[in-house]
This record gives sequence, C-alpha cells and structure tokens, in this order.
Amino acid sequence: MKISKSSFSRLHSTNFTDLKFGTVFSDHMLICKYIDGKWGELEIKPYGPLDMNPGSQILHYGQAVFEGMKAFKNDKDEVLLFRKEENYKRLNKSAVRLSIPKIPRDIFMNGLDSLLSIDSDWCKKDDGYSLYIRPVIFASGECIKASSSEEFTFVIITSPSTKYYDGEMNVVVEEHYTRAPEGGVGFAKAAGNYAASFYPTKKANAKGFQQVIWTDAKDHKYIEESGTMNIWFRIDNKLITPSLSDSILSGITRDSIITLAKDNGIEVEERKIKVTEILESYKKGKLKEAFGTGTAVTVNPINSITIYNECLYLNEQVDAYALKLKNLLQGIQKGSIVDSYNWTDKVN
Ligand SMILES: Cc1ncc(COP(=O)(O)O)c(C=O)c1O
Repeated sequence: MKISKSSFSRLHSTNFTDLKFGTVFSDHMLICKYIDGKWGELEIKPYGPLDMNPGSQILHYGQAVFEGMKAFKNDKDEVLLFRKEENYKRLNKSAVRLSIPKIPRDIFMNGLDSLLSIDSDWCKKDDGYSLYIRPVIFASGECIKASSSEEFTFVIITSPSTKYYDGEMNVVVEEHYTRAPEGGVGFAKAAGNYAASFYPTKKANAKGFQQVIWTDAKDHKYIEESGTMNIWFRIDNKLITPSLSDSILSGITRDSIITLAKDNGIEVEERKIKVTEILESYKKGKLKEAFGTGTAVTVNPINSITIYNECLYLNEQVDAYALKLKNLLQGIQKGSIVDSYNWTDKVN
C-alpha cells in the first residue's frame, strides 16, 4: 500500500459544532484502480480531486455503486467500525448487478482499516458524533459507447457527522413516481437510484414534506421504503416492516433492528404492507408509531404520514419503540452496551 500523508491537517480549522451532513471531509482518501482485468495497488493520499477525463463512462452512463457505513469512538479512544462485513458484502452484490468487478476482501478491509487509523482524530468521541464512511466504485474507462467500462476506480472518503435530519419528519406516500421497479436495481446501492429519486423528493419538499414513502412500481399499492431509510410501523404492539424484494435496499440497520427488537421481546413481522392497511390501522387507533432506519439517521421517528391527501399525525409514545431501539443500537455502536452480536470491530 502506498501512503502519502497530507502536509497539513484541516482538522483544527473544522467547526465540529456546526457540521452539515456530508459536506466536510477528513484529510485522506483511499484509491485503487481496476485496469487490465485486475485491481491494482492501494493508495492513501490527501483528500482531493481525482484525475478524470470528460469521456469517463461514469459521467455518461452512471455505472457506479457505493456504500454508507459508520465508525464510532468509544470511551477508550478506540475507533469501532459497525458491521463492516455486511457493507463489504452489499457493495459486491451491488457491483455484480451493475457489471462492476468485485472488490477483493483484503483491498476493502485493509484499505478501510489503514484509512481510519490515519484519520482517527476525525472520529469524535462526544455523544452524537460518528465518522460516516463512503466507499464508491465507478466506471473510469474512457469511452462514450453505451457499454460497460473496462476500467474502474474504487475510492473511500470519510466525513465527520452528527445528525442527518433536524426537526420533524413528515412524509407523504408517493402515488405517481417510482424509485425502483421489479427486476431493476433497487436492491443495489446504485448511483442512478438516487439520481432518479431527487425530482419526486424535491416536489414533496416543496409541499412541506421531508421525504416520500416509495410504493411498488406496478400500482403504488404497497409500501417499500422512505427516502433513504427502511420503514417501520408499530401496529398495536407489533413492529411491521416491508419484506425485502429486488426493489428494496436490504438495510443493515434494518437487519440490526430486527435482531434487537426480537431479542428485547418485541414481535416483528416482515411482510407486504398495503398503503390502505396503514390508513385503516390509523383510523382504528392501532397505528402507534412509524419510523425510518438507516446508517445516516440510525432510527428516525416519523411525525406524520400523508396518504391520499389525509394526514395521519403520530403522537409521541411514552414507551416508543423507536427510542428504545435507537438507544440499544447506538449503545452497541459506541461500545457503551456489550456487543453480544459481534457487530463491532476495532480499527487497528
Ligand atoms: C434506499 C435506501 N434504503 C435503505 C437504506 C438503509 O440502509 P442501511 O441501514 O444499510 O444504511 C438506505 C441507506 O443506505 C438507502 O439508501
């Protein structure tokens, strides 16, 4: 591995009390190129521009996949990575669907460890802080024929973070636009999925909603996910979340919450959820909570859901599942609760 360290750090000129999610980057980045059918040498160098030409395939055909993961600092000043194995597996699952060569395990794991140990000061110990990690692989071959690239670039950048959303979370059920159709790339963390979501999300934002709830592409009858979060409903005292399909991203937070809920006596059901079921449950007084889960937000309570122009207000529950599960998850992530699941790994 080639390592060239930055001659000065931006750490001391960074305002950690006013971090806007995803806008501040740590001093270094990791880079590795796929050329002539193989991944080359890993390099860690100062965060900065990538050398890329206008003919690079990523710019024309969006052949790119990425991940979102987090590291936390515990009381002993150790950096803990959360479920890195799952992010590694999902990155390669996404890569296969986008016709991108898989990243070998040693490149991903060694690269990640080295990068985090160099930039460990960017991971703050104070409550609410984490280091958001963004691995991405993109088509860097130069060719504007609509075809899969023969060259790719793997990059990891990191960004200190606090909260993703501030304030209320009011969401609206999307009845026209679609995030992902059956047989498409919805299960992959493909760049294009996000590009396609921005226009409908902006329209919803203009109406005062923070996010949309995506529904199935066929007839918008079934709930899929909300923005970049998997979605959950508490109906009576049961937690319900849409079962996975090829149009839903298999959230690592979702998987963790299923385990934590079950192990803490909460009944969980993964199944198809009709939009009308949520409406009817609300009218019968059975819908007690809704929340979203994802790496960036952890567990985010939903304040209201608008379905077919009807706004369902969700009152705060004294025994909120969202808060209970969030505290458990964050405790494990930060090392203040014993990790009996082996979800965390110390950065060496
Ligand atoms: C579309 C989508 N769904 C769900 C999630 C939640 O996934 P995870 O918990 O792995 O972050 C994300 C965030 O990564 C996402 O982009």
